[in-house]
Amino acid sequence: MATRTTDSPTAEDREFAFSASDYDYLRAMLKEKTGIELGPTKHNMVYARLAKRLRKLGMNGFREYIEFIGSDAGGDELGTTLNALTTNLTKFFRENHHFEHLATTALQEIRARAVSQGRRLRIWSAGCSSGEEPYSTAITLLRSMPDIKQWDAKILATDIDTEMVRRGTAGIYPAAALEGMPADIPRKYFEPYGEDKVRMAEEARNLISFKHLNLVAHWPMKGPFDVIFCRNVVIYFDKDTQRVLFDRYANLLAPGGFLYIGHSENLFGITERFKLLGRNIHRKIA
Ligand SMILES: C[S@@+](CC[C@H](N)C(=O)[O-])C[C@H]1O[C@@H](n2cnc3c(N)ncnc32)[C@H](O)[C@@H]1O
Repeated sequence: MATRTTDSPTAEDREFAFSASDYDYLRAMLKEKTGIELGPTKHNMVYARLAKRLRKLGMNGFREYIEFIGSDAGGDELGTTLNALTTNLTKFFRENHHFEHLATTALQEIRARAVSQGRRLRIWSAGCSSGEEPYSTAITLLRSMPDIKQWDAKILATDIDTEMVRRGTAGIYPAAALEGMPADIPRKYFEPYGEDKVRMAEEARNLISFKHLNLVAHWPMKGPFDVIFCRNVVIYFDKDTQRVLFDRYANLLAPGGFLYIGHSENLFGITERFKLLGRNIHRKIA
């Protein structure tokens, strides 16, 4: 007899019928629309993330749901499905060495260049989730650039998940998210918001534009960017998708610009347009 656990319901336990071909369909659709590749064994994850939605819509099973996504009546159900299937784990100052590098090296280089080229600074957080990464970037700028008001400084923060873009734009987080930050940061860059929440200070919010953007589709921006963060995003993409994406990043970065990628990602065999400086910090060289 199959063992029952809450995490891994067996097919017989399931409230909604979910066949192998339903799973394959959703998996292929996710890959086509977002570049995200689910392994062949993520049935339970997909089921758990979408079952709530089927219940809300009063559906009988995944076949009916899949037909609904593709129908006119489905409206933006495809967007809702994609939101449910993305993984959005993030936190403030995650992989803090990138923010240290930004403060001590990247911004210093950009400042030196500004003497001849003007005080323009462009940073892109690609796959920004709920905003902790671009806000950590904004705080780093505010802390290390006392003259920031004299700069044309902008951070673009994009994600495919519309709910994440909404949350980032709101800039409201649980107060617990501040734990472990140096004391001056909560005091200067967050304000109390209701019971157990905080909101990003206006000066940090004003530096960032949050936008919905699919990394495997058309990009309206022209660049150039001085720095691109794309961390813990391509881990879900296959190598060919990564090749195209990193080539596009190189095209959009200024000469010598920096690319930060996540701790379990690398550019080996993907592109030779960057030089690894260490700790997943890359400089555009071609
Ligand atoms: C694990 S989070 C990483 C967040 C942040 N960069 C960090 O390292 O903390 C990955 C994010 O990439 C986004 N993402 C996945 N595929 C995407 C795509 N094709 N276009 C844009 N964003 C995508 C997801 O919605 C998710 O919010």
